[in-house]
Amino acid sequence: TDRYAVIGHPISHSKSPLIHKMFAEQTGQDISYEAIEAPLDGFAATIERLRAEGYKGCNVTVPFKFEAYRLVSSQQRARIEAELAKAVNTLSFLDDSQIFGDNTDGIGLVQDIQQNLKVVLSGKRVLLMGAGGAAYGVALPLLNAEAKLVVANRTEDKAFELASRFNADRITGCGYEALSGQQFDVVINATSSGLSDELPPLPPGIFAPGALAYDMMYGRETPFMRFAREQGAAQVADGLGMLVEQAAEAFYIWCGVRPDTVPVLAALRG
Ligand code: ATR
Repeated sequence: TDRYAVIGHPISHSKSPLIHKMFAEQTGQDISYEAIEAPLDGFAATIERLRAEGYKGCNVTVPFKFEAYRLVSSQQRARIEAELAKAVNTLSFLDDSQIFGDNTDGIGLVQDIQQNLKVVLSGKRVLLMGAGGAAYGVALPLLNAEAKLVVANRTEDKAFELASRFNADRITGCGYEALSGQQFDVVINATSSGLSDELPPLPPGIFAPGALAYDMMYGRETPFMRFAREQGAAQVADGLGMLVEQAAEAFYIWCGVRPDTVPVLAALRG
């Protein structure tokens, strides 16, 4: 049995053990996967312990994704998505005692939008709200899917900074006021506004006909999701599909097998 885990603080609410258990059963992989709470000042020590005990890898969640990146970046062992985000959500413990870091959040988001929600991103006008870690984590896969990306942030400068990091003409940054009169086919909430039950200051009329509104949070209806319904967005989604898809990508990195996410997402939605 190959052992894996998810590490966070807090971690008791995590759905990842259940998701990976379903993946393992479905694909016949002999793995175990548990949730481990690391002390806030004990992430590196926890990783060291797991490696010593022979674990093969782990997922990393709040608040350790940046520390996980720093752990692997010194060895220059991070995939480009993780490098740009400066955040890692998937660690692989390699045989040569090296640790490899991936960030599968963005691939998970793109996969959920295109495969599950059936919205093709190529050529679409996509608004990404937020310029923190969550937004950095998903920008590159959105660009790779050939979306035309506008990043809006309350603190405008951080949106400019994010956009300039990618050095592509399909990504621009702005503040929320600049969105007046514009319409988007996909609007993604990568801000932490939902945690405090707030709504980013979006102007009315932001949703193009047929638009998808996507909140990367899951677990409850956020003010953004409510706003999107009121404003007539054709589809409103939470981040549960992204959670399952980022897990599937991690599972693939570790086991080399792609699980079918459809029944897993259906089971989680109950
Ligand atoms: P995370 O890692 O979840 O992205 P973060 O790095 O603290 O967390 O970033 C939080 C993001 O949510 C920021 O882009 C923040 O905007 P500012 O940079 O202007 O602070 C955004 N955010 C938080 N609350 C918000 C709100 N009520 N309206 C709009 N944006 C909000």
